[in-house]
Amino acid sequence: MILNALHADTLDIERIRQTATCLFDDKACDAAIVRMAEKITRDLAGSDPLLLCVMNGGLILTGRLAPLLDFPLQIDYLHATRYRDEVRGGELNWLSYPRERLAGRPVIVVDDILDEGNTLKAVCDYALEQGATKAYGAVLVEKLHERRIHGARAECIGLQIEDRFVFGFGLDYKGYLRNAPGIFAVPDAELE
Ligand code: IMP
Ligand code: MG
Repeated sequence: MILNALHADTLDIERIRQTATCLFDDKACDAAIVRMAEKITRDLAGSDPLLLCVMNGGLILTGRLAPLLDFPLQIDYLHATRYRDEVRGGELNWLSYPRERLAGRPVIVVDDILDEGNTLKAVCDYALEQGATKAYGAVLVEKLHERRIHGARAECIGLQIEDRFVFGFGLDYKGYLRNAPGIFAVPDAELE
């Protein structure tokens, strides 16, 4: 029965939430975002940038970052997803494109995490194809490993983590837990 299946999923999510390790709490994430805002202000204030949120992962970072950028800018979003609520990577699916002008201005691509870099590179390439003067990657978390694809980089990074699956502050576990107040690592045994 569907109701029972939903209930079982929710119990699974709740177990993950309870057993995860907190890597950075809410305060540490906010402090990192303040540092990011300072760097972005130094790099881009006065250049009429477009702040482009990569939904859904970039949602929380965009919401916390934007009010700290005290200069004129516009905000737009695109929806591109790689994981489709699963925990391993796949092809990038574009579900919606930005509507504001990208041409002739810097575009700040805001996403939750720089992992292999497929998402950030694809979105930055798109911004440049549309005529952006610069594609400036801003991510809350960088995952440290050797699997980064060629040409994928972020100009502004909040926090660095080891190679673990994390959730919170926009990052999801099976579509849930994006709202968790910090960056939490899923126990490795749960991912096998
Ligand atoms: P990439 O394209 O390989 O860099 O993967 C980036 C995207 O994969 C991010 O926008 C996230 O949506 C997702 N992702 C990568 N690592 C994690 C993780 O540890 N937790 C949750 N989502 C992740
Ligand atoms: Mg994402």
